[in-house]
Order: sequence, then C-alpha cells, then structure tokens
Amino acid sequence: MSPLIELRSISKRFGGIEALIDVSIEVQPGEVLCLLGDNGAGKSTLIKVLSGFYQPTSGDVYVGGEATRFSGPREARSKGIATVHQDVGSIPLMSVGRNFFLGAEPIKGWGPFKIFDVEKANNIAVEEIRSFGITRVTSGDQLVGTLSGGERQVLAIARAMYFGAKVLILDEPTSALGVKEAAKVLGMVKLARKRGVGIVFITHNARHAMLVGDSFVVVAHGAVLAKFRRGEKTRDEVLNLMAGGDTTAAIEADLARFEEDAD
Ligand SMILES: Nc1ncnc2c1ncn2[C@@H]1O[C@H](COP(=O)(O)OP(=O)(O)OP(=O)(O)O)[C@@H](O)[C@H]1O
Ligand SMILES: [Mg+2]
Repeated sequence: MSPLIELRSISKRFGGIEALIDVSIEVQPGEVLCLLGDNGAGKSTLIKVLSGFYQPTSGDVYVGGEATRFSGPREARSKGIATVHQDVGSIPLMSVGRNFFLGAEPIKGWGPFKIFDVEKANNIAVEEIRSFGITRVTSGDQLVGTLSGGERQVLAIARAMYFGAKVLILDEPTSALGVKEAAKVLGMVKLARKRGVGIVFITHNARHAMLVGDSFVVVAHGAVLAKFRRGEKTRDEVLNLMAGGDTTAAIEADLARFEEDAD
C-alpha cells in the first residue's frame, strides 16, 4: 500500500539557512506520525512543504504514490491534505455552524453547498462535532468563543474530516491546553486514526506524543535525528533525542517539566 503522502529527500533553503536537509517521511492511512523537535528544528517548514505552502528546494513529494508538485495550499487541500493551525477558532464571535463551513467554497469534492443554508449547516456541524464526543455543543448558533480550547481543536478537526481530509496535519494541537482539554484532543486524534486518516502530529510534549503515536520522527537542525516506532524507545530516550544533543541541564529541565505534566 502506498503512503497517503511521502516526502523523499526534501531540502529547503532560505537564503543561507538550511531549514530542511534531506528529510524523508511517509504517512500511512490510520497511522499517527509524531513530528518532534526543539524550537527552530524545522517542524513548521516541514509541514509547510507537506501542505503546499512551500516548494522544496530539492526532493520530491508523493501523494498516493504519485510524484506531485503542489502549486499552493489550495491544491494540497483539494488532494485531501488538511492543516489545523494552532490559532484555530480565533474568530470567537462566529457561530459554530458558520465556522464549520468557513472557507469551504463549493468547488468539486469540497462541500455540498452552492448557497449557504444556515439551518442545514448548523445541523451538520453539531452532528459532526457530537460524533467526536463533544456533546456540550447543542446548537450551531452557539458562538465559537463559548467553546474551550480543546473543543475548538475538535471543531477544526471534525470540519477537516467532514470535507474529506485524508491527511490531517495538527500543529501543536495540545500545547495551550490543560490536561483534560488535551485528553479531548488526543481522543479525537485516536478517533480520526480509527477512521483511516493519516495524522501528522507536531508537538513539544513527549508524553502526548507517546500516548497517540504509531511512528515518530525527531528533527534537529533541519535533519532527521531519529525515526522509530511505538514501543521502541523509552520516554527518557525520547526526551534526550528531543533535546537534540543539548546540555544535561537542559535535558534535566525538560524532564522536570515532563514530571510536572505527568502529575
Ligand atoms: N521564511 C523563512 N525565512 C528564513 N528562515 C526561515 C523561514 N522559515 C523558517 N526559517 C528558519 O528555518 C529554521 C527552522 O524553522 P521552523 O519554523 O521550521 O522551526 P520549528 O521547528 O517549527 O520551530 P518552533 O518549534 O519554534 O515552531 C529556523 O532556523 C528558522 O529561523
Ligand atoms: Mg514551528
């Protein structure tokens, strides 16, 4: 079975900066790929190549086994590559129903509406969100601002899936969330995986990654530092890798934070 999306030997240069160096990853259906790495490691650049925002300087992108050159994010989206950004749901005064269909222009394969039917939109939005266990949302007229951070992430993911996402790229979806809220999002990731979606989960949180990850890629200074599968490394090993050869003090600080988080 060919991967949903694959990067082969991708490099990306910005002037003199090598943001990505010879990076190869693949995303399989029904699999969560965790992309780990410190600040500046190249994670955002990598997802921008995956989602069509950037053209790589060299290397190839394959979608469903076919070599592809995205002209831009819209083309990537039309091929089922959906990105949920961290600042999701930042329009608090918009209704849940409106938000759900926001930007879903009625082009082929993307959204059934030529005319915006509020009632229908609201019903679909509520139904979809509820199917992912967010039962507190009972009306599509409810404002996004009344949702918690975790619920907003779930809304964004539910929407991407409704519009046919095959690959879901989640950029730090749990970073601003408390334990319970993060659990909602992690639960959602597991449900999406069950439905056969391939997920790229970007996080600084090794614990969250290890709770949902099937495969792991650690990047440091633009290059792949390690690749492994669930169960092949301990949390301590993962934390050390994520620190990317930093001082012991930095690793200790990471560990302390990790312990706190685990409480
Ligand atoms: N548009 C750009 N122009 C120039 N340099 C860039 C650009 N985008 C990223 N870089 C550089 O490439 C490197 C990787 O950046 P990137 O944003 O991908 O890291 P990151 O892993 O997402 O970091 P963070 O965890 O802080 O979000 C950094 O050195 C960054 O300064
Ligand atoms: Mg980033």
